[in-house]
Amino acid sequence: MRHIYLDYNASTPTAPEVVSAMQPLLTEGYGNPSSPHWAGVPARRALETARLEVATLLGALPDEVVFTSGGSEANNAALKGVFFAARRRLSAPHLITTAVEHPAVETPCCFLESLGARVTRLPVDTAGLVAPDEVRRAITDDTVLVSVMHANNEVGTIQPIVEIGAITRQQGILLHTDAAQSVGKIPVRVEELGVDLLSVAGHKLYAPKGVGALYIREGVEIEPLLHGAGHEAGRRAGTESALLAVGLGRACRLATELPCEDHLRSVTDRFWRRLHERIRRSHRAQRTSHATSAEHAEREHSRDDRSADPGAVGRCRGLDRLGLPQRHPHDVAGAPGNGSQRRGRARCHEVQRGASDDGRRDRRGRRAAAERALVRECASTARGR
Ligand SMILES: Cc1ncc(COP(=O)(O)O)c(C=O)c1O
Repeated sequence: MRHIYLDYNASTPTAPEVVSAMQPLLTEGYGNPSSPHWAGVPARRALETARLEVATLLGALPDEVVFTSGGSEANNAALKGVFFAARRRLSAPHLITTAVEHPAVETPCCFLESLGARVTRLPVDTAGLVAPDEVRRAITDDTVLVSVMHANNEVGTIQPIVEIGAITRQQGILLHTDAAQSVGKIPVRVEELGVDLLSVAGHKLYAPKGVGALYIREGVEIEPLLHGAGHEAGRRAGTESALLAVGLGRACRLATELPCEDHLRSVTDRFWRRLHERIRRSHRAQRTSHATSAEHAEREHSRDDRSADPGAVGRCRGLDRLGLPQRHPHDVAGAPGNGSQRRGRARCHEVQRGASDDGRRDRRGRRAAAERALVRECASTARGR
């Protein structure tokens, strides 16, 4: 029987170019990237080239990329890292997230609540969108992090991260986005989005399973999830896998070209239209080019009055199927701080983000230098072949 694989939101196949790039690391690249001798140096070079490739796709600096085991680890590192760093000055740090996050965000939030964090879960509208004004209203003096997914794993809705970023920046609060479903599928540039932390899952963009990345904006302090030797500039202990990093790096290089986004969108739209002929109501919001969800449409179709049931927003997104605790979507939201508190946070945030104009120009220059270095690295690799 011939199988047709349509579950790319769950995982993508590994691209043949990625497999080829990884192959030499299996046989020759066994050195420890931290070893200064002949075996370690090529592994380090492969690792750093891969870091540059990930950074180039995201518009980040290479030093802002930390390799992880995947999207779940990146989300855990971001949420717990900010929480534990904030705990040094606050007894009950406040986090804001949404009712439609993947369990890789929702479950760490539940865990942090058990340690004393306060978590607000914002509701979404019928298209799965969170309103930036809801984020603004939910901010309190103790808010340390807003975490809103970039693209939804079930229906592909793209959240208004740029607008939310403008609010968090003004308020001096960190912004994390779980971009597991968007990186490699639509353009994702950290500067344009205005995020401080961003999670990448390799196996959603044609890299193998077991590798991902966390973007941490320069200057943002987070407590590491794993303590040990100083790998990844002290941000994630454990000998780096040059093999897996190369897989992710090559996948990011392929994605940098994004050759098929328009084609993918037109095929998805055609598929969607055909489904829509059979299922009357469907979700029309901006969504990733490859995503559609019949289950979502069916659920919407079958509900007469979602507003009568506070847990319904989460359930109609399929969260009940994932076994998540159902919560009232209008969780606790306190008043925003006074003017001087806001200015204080904004100042502290500016220091954390290095967000001055000079800083931004400097970053652009450094990123361009990093991209030139990647081109040189690729050219010399090709010459050595
Ligand atoms: C939105 C989202 N976040 C996080 C994850 C978890 O990523 P990983 O499987 O790499 O741990 C997934 C995977 O399904 C996802 O769709």
